[in-house]
Amino acid sequence: MFPSLKSPKALTAHTKRENKSKREMGAGPLKDQTHFLTKRLLPCVIYALLPLALFRFYFYPPSFNESLEKAPQDKPIIVIKPSSKATNEKFSGIPCDYTSGKWVRDMLGPRYNGTSCTTIKDGQNCMSHGRPDLGYLYWRWKPKGCNLPRFEPSTFLRIVENKHLAFVGDSMARNQLESLLCLLSEASPPHLVYRDGEENKFRRWHISSHNITVSIYWSPFLVKGIEKSASGFNHNRLYVDLVDDRWGSEMGQMDVIVLSIGHWFLHPAVYLEKDLVLGCHFCPNMNHTEIGFYQVFRKSLRTALKAISDVQDGKKRQIIVTTFSPSHFEGDWDKAGACPKKMPSKEGEKAMESMDVEMRNIEIEEVEVAMKNGAQIGLQFETLDITKLSLMRPDGHPGPYMYPFPFAHGVPERVQNDCVHWCLPGPIDTWNEILLEVMKRWEVQANRDGL
Ligand SMILES: *[C@@H]1O[C@H](CO)[C@@H](O)[C@H](O)[C@H]1NC(C)=O
Ligand SMILES: *[C@@H]1O[C@H](CO)[C@@H](O)[C@H](O)[C@H]1NC(C)=O
Ligand SMILES: *[C@@H]1O[C@H](CO)[C@@H](O)[C@H](O)[C@H]1NC(C)=O
Repeated sequence: MFPSLKSPKALTAHTKRENKSKREMGAGPLKDQTHFLTKRLLPCVIYALLPLALFRFYFYPPSFNESLEKAPQDKPIIVIKPSSKATNEKFSGIPCDYTSGKWVRDMLGPRYNGTSCTTIKDGQNCMSHGRPDLGYLYWRWKPKGCNLPRFEPSTFLRIVENKHLAFVGDSMARNQLESLLCLLSEASPPHLVYRDGEENKFRRWHISSHNITVSIYWSPFLVKGIEKSASGFNHNRLYVDLVDDRWGSEMGQMDVIVLSIGHWFLHPAVYLEKDLVLGCHFCPNMNHTEIGFYQVFRKSLRTALKAISDVQDGKKRQIIVTTFSPSHFEGDWDKAGACPKKMPSKEGEKAMESMDVEMRNIEIEEVEVAMKNGAQIGLQFETLDITKLSLMRPDGHPGPYMYPFPFAHGVPERVQNDCVHWCLPGPIDTWNEILLEVMKRWEVQANRDGL
């Protein structure tokens, strides 16, 4: 899935060490102040723990020698900052906060299925992999004060006509892109016109009926980063003040840019800014200060948004940041039933974990900064705030169906589970329904302003 990462030892060591530090914390007051982590960083470590362990599984075929501890039960409930809905209100006159609401039954079901759409990545094609329960397909997101219209491919195609829509980020960006391609293919099939990189990390489609280019750029940090590899470092190196050239050099060609990142920041990494080491994350054997990843996540996003604003070629670009997508591991990641839920959660049933909240809030804040600066030069920024509505869909992940028919020969003792990405069709289609609403609102605004 992420083929450039092939050195399980380092991360395993980290996981062990962190599990140890977590046990110490759980046992009472933290005695060992000589530990390399400062108290300030403890929350981030706790919440980084489980995902980190899971990512180890994503990057390396499991050796199945260890089981992972569950996330702590006593999660603090953190107040969620409201997103920038005031702006929406001003622009459209129709206030709609898509972020709060509930999932309601919808017998209409999805617009496509695992066979009608041919561009679904295998690991997310739950239908063709034999997922037996299909109830997860029959839910609609119902925002509190309004309705979210069903995705209308022809409207989307009309709005994006003659434009280049680029998705930039990690595998969540790809997951969202593939949902959009499926939603559009029903009306007008996209044709793959370019591919490059292992695992199709860079791809481009053309929708000839409307001269639309849709592309995906692999850039899990948005900034320049050297991903760890078997031959080189066993941690990532990020240059938080330099935008990643693989997409940065082509920014000028893009009209609508969807950024989606987050999960890769949990990995061991060394951070550099202006060629000086800022610090690192999960780097016990290195002589750098542990600084966690929130600050660096913020800086990286800021660098990317600023780089887009700095293009200044007169193009009225639209930039959307998809917020952090929560994962739903409940039990051991290598056992059947790692994300066993068959129904959405009710509102308030599950509090967001602090890491989900932190990551989302940073994205909201940085988009607000970019919005203020970009407005004068005609750029539009928005967050696609899907963290909470996605948290309420523990039933929407491939789980064991990341592989075909995992239980064909009974329930094996160990099964890999994907409780991070989303089945297609599935809840992630809702993200693109909201994306279309954002673009519709921008269109109304542009017409009104006589642009
Ligand atoms: C998928 O959709 C196509 C086209 O709408 C339909 O013909 C087919 O029967 C569907 N397949 C499944 C498994 O639902
Ligand atoms: C087709 O779309 C591209 C942007 O992706 C644009 O540069 C080009 O001018 C468009 N062609 C026509 C004929 O409008
Ligand atoms: C770690 O860095 C400090 C300060 O730069 C230096 O004094 C010390 O010698 C270094 N230790 C090692 C093991 O490199």
